[in-house]
Amino acid sequence: HEEFTKVKNIAKIELGRYEIDTWYFSPFPPEYNDSSKLYFCEFCLNFMKRKEQLQRHMVDGKKNKVYGQNLCYLAKLFLDHKTLYYDVDLFLFYVLCECDDRGCHMVGYFSKEKHSEESYNLACILTLPPYQRKGYGKFLIAFSAYELSKKEGKVGTPERPLSDLGLLSYRGYWTRVLLDILKKHKSNISIKELSDMTAIKADDILSTLQSLDLIQYRKGQHVICADPKVLDRHLKAAGRGGLEVDVSKLIWTPYK
Ligand code: COA
Ligand code: NA
Repeated sequence: HEEFTKVKNIAKIELGRYEIDTWYFSPFPPEYNDSSKLYFCEFCLNFMKRKEQLQRHMVDGKKNKVYGQNLCYLAKLFLDHKTLYYDVDLFLFYVLCECDDRGCHMVGYFSKEKHSEESYNLACILTLPPYQRKGYGKFLIAFSAYELSKKEGKVGTPERPLSDLGLLSYRGYWTRVLLDILKKHKSNISIKELSDMTAIKADDILSTLQSLDLIQYRKGQHVICADPKVLDRHLKAAGRGGLEVDVSKLIWTPYK
């Protein structure tokens, strides 16, 4: 009976798209009682005191261990050369979904180490086979790899080894991004500058430009040779850019 007379402790909750005013007292564990608002995960109903915790909860391998492990088992079915990580604690998982009136359906994901010594900006990437060749891989690469790295203010590179399909997808991405800049840029540009502009690691820039035969070695220096006609030919061969990442919609803070 005592519980009915207690003063309301939590005034509001956030659940999915809604902020909801509460009606009554509920006996949350004491550590929640100093909050006037709680953030619920609409899927598993875990609750948290801060919005950032909720956002992290949605993707953190440490907090959704079983989901993270199951995702790794599933992904490994399509990844030949990766060892399966059991310590999902060390990774964040970004899951891409197609949403319809029945809910959100996973089409692919990438994982990213929380702290990478080698400046890896992506560990594993997968598009489930029924969804491949629709531009999702390119989207995940552009997003992971380079929009998140730009926000972190870091240059990054995917973890090696890359699969054949992984390398094809990355080469296409690097070619489009770099050659687009070279085409627009009228004056000289260095690999360091390209790297700063794109968050692509200098080695990857060099190997991409070398594979396209755009680098010459003159007087002890690498020089980029950017004949507009040649650039256009390579850009055409690199294919379409896929789904565009709308950076204005990205709400994200680097993991600390
Ligand atoms: N044959 C030939 N080229 C292919 C290809 C295939 N089966 N699959 C992808 N590509 C190339 C194409 O150039 C394609 O662009 P296009 O469709 O405009 O021609 C480009 O890669 C990327 O296509 P996209 O649709 O954006 O990628 P995706 O959603 O199919 O995903 C992977 C690409 C790599 C994520 C996907 O193939 C995958 O999950 N593979 C298994 C797991 C894996 O190898 N991951 C990488 C580990 S490093
Ligand atoms: Na993984």
